[in-house]
Amino acid sequence: MRQVTVVEHLLLRQKERPMASGRFTRLLTELILSAKIIDREVSKAGLLDVLGATGEVNIQGEVVQKLDDFANQVIIRRMERAGVLCAMVSEENADFIEIPRQFPVGDYILIFDPLDGSANIDANVSIGTIFSIYRRTSFEQQAVSVGDLLQKGSMQVAAGYIIYGSSTMMVYTAGNGVHGFTLDPSVGEFLLSHPDIKIPERGRIYSVNEGYSSYWDEPTRNIVNYFKASDNATGRPYSTRYIGSLVSDFHRNLIYGGIFMYPADSRDARKPSGKLRLMCEAAPMAMIAEQAGGLATDGTQRIMDIEPQELHQRVPLFIGSKNDVEVVLKFYADAAKS
Ligand code: AHG
Ligand code: MN
Ligand code: MN
Repeated sequence: MRQVTVVEHLLLRQKERPMASGRFTRLLTELILSAKIIDREVSKAGLLDVLGATGEVNIQGEVVQKLDDFANQVIIRRMERAGVLCAMVSEENADFIEIPRQFPVGDYILIFDPLDGSANIDANVSIGTIFSIYRRTSFEQQAVSVGDLLQKGSMQVAAGYIIYGSSTMMVYTAGNGVHGFTLDPSVGEFLLSHPDIKIPERGRIYSVNEGYSSYWDEPTRNIVNYFKASDNATGRPYSTRYIGSLVSDFHRNLIYGGIFMYPADSRDARKPSGKLRLMCEAAPMAMIAEQAGGLATDGTQRIMDIEPQELHQRVPLFIGSKNDVEVVLKFYADAAKS
């Protein structure tokens, strides 16, 4: 059987749009290469001690970096040279990243979480990289400002993630469905394995960190109780599955059907809007969910419609199967009425 690589898939799409310059393909090609480099390091994570890393310096005399710093540097260093970006925003950097003067610039913006779920690395549990791509809307000769980057999710040109799991997969959408590619390590290519992914309309899984339930607002508590209640007609109770990596939890629910929640949390004054970041986590996942036939909300508002006020703004997130997210919307709407 002839297998389609992710780059061939991108080129086919480019042919359908004869005016396309190939810059978008170039952007994703560089990102895919970054993902392969990160994958190589992630798969060696447990070997660091075996290979003789001593404290901060490894056997080659290089400073041993934490994997999320490593992933961040790989993406920044590769993408700043690609000639297609005007700026980047990383979860790991407080400010946006400008393209150094010596490199050509383009009009795309890349927003990313280099390693998501990184608290799981030492236990060999799946982690991921999330990306989101926008186009600059302002006049190109001017310097990029934060205002150019604060675009709502519905302006995304493309979004996706790489999951470093039992196999490594890339899942992305450019606004015409969601497609999944599995890395074949023997040839070093991502091959089309999941064309046009659709999330089941109703799931059987809810995913939330229930340890924090006493810090949730009342609608969230009622929502989780709803998914736990027994009802044959709607297949309840649902099962709980929670890995603690958004990418992995979302990916499982995308394939099997279900809902992932990271609600507002009153315990920590820094987390009144939950933990997840609108621009580098919630918005890209929301675009994928919607393109797969699902939904994403903060409880009352569509995630893709939220105008960001700052780069690292946090947002409550309820995302997944359409019917399950509609349950959330109904509980919040009812709470607002009473
Ligand atoms: P990151 O590793 O990029 O900081 O993100 C971790 C996030 C997300 O992946 C996950 O859904 C969530 O943190 C888990 O948080 P809790 O441990 O509070 O449940
Ligand atoms: Mn993250
Ligand atoms: Mn991260």
